Amino acid sequence: MPTVFVTGANRGLGYEHVKQYAHKGWKIIACAREPEKANKLQELCGEYGDNFIIEQLDVVNHSDIDKLSRKFKNTPIDILINNAGTSGPLGMPGAMAYQTIDNMDYEIWRNILEVNLLSPFKVATAFHNHIAQSEKKLLVMMSSDLGSVEQNTFGGFYSYRASKAALNIISKGMSVDWKDLSVIALAPGWCKTYLGGKEAEIQPDESVEKQQDMFEKITSKNSGMFLDRFGKEVSW
Ligand SMILES: NC(=O)c1ccc[n+]([C@@H]2O[C@H](COP(=O)([O-])OP(=O)(O)OC[C@H]3O[C@@H](n4cnc5c(N)ncnc54)[C@H](OP(=O)(O)O)[C@@H]3O)[C@@H](O)[C@H]2O)c1
Repeated sequence: MPTVFVTGANRGLGYEHVKQYAHKGWKIIACAREPEKANKLQELCGEYGDNFIIEQLDVVNHSDIDKLSRKFKNTPIDILINNAGTSGPLGMPGAMAYQTIDNMDYEIWRNILEVNLLSPFKVATAFHNHIAQSEKKLLVMMSSDLGSVEQNTFGGFYSYRASKAALNIISKGMSVDWKDLSVIALAPGWCKTYLGGKEAEIQPDESVEKQQDMFEKITSKNSGMFLDRFGKEVSW
């Protein structure tokens, strides 16, 4: 069966991805910052046994990313989902307050860039060969509609938007530099997670189901695209 590698698999969209792929019989490498506290992941691990591996990974720790890359040197990874992300210490709506035009917390902004931009770049470069060795060869960069320049018609969210817009350009760049992979930037939709908040439009399981159906149809022709969960192009 194929293998999927997911960062930030403890909750939200990352958790849903590993749960749904485990159910489909895939081999799972689920990364979490604090596996000992990741009770729901531990339950899945108990259920699926050797096919479900939990790895400790804080994505800002580059030496741990390299260690994990060496550990799985001979493991082809069909789909790597660079999912771990943050809007700062609070989910919605609290996260709107510290990233406005007249109230910017620069420390939080730096951290958002570290997690949402530098880390996925580091993970992608460390695992490029693992993905290239696989059948599917798909690298998913979890972006957001809030990273779309064209769709920015209501302002705000400066730190988060900037991190995702920059993630989009590195995703595009990787599709140019790595012809041996398919690289997509993905807008999952506004989902009811810690980050998305209670007012969001859709449940995480619904978004992930659509994302996974869409991944099945992705080929190298889609590399370099910014897509929504249905596979429709999102304006940059
Ligand atoms: N929800 C939405 O509406 C929405 C919309 C567009 C895009 N997205 C994107 O989708 C992705 C997942 O978001 P979500 O909605 O599922 O949010 P979430 O429920 O807040 O989950 C975020 C996950 O990222 C992990 N994470 C944060 N910082 C990390 C770090 N330094 N190292 C490792 N893991 C870290 C968290 O780990 P802990 O559990 O240890 O804190 C958590 O598992 C993010 O990239 C987000 O920007 C979400």
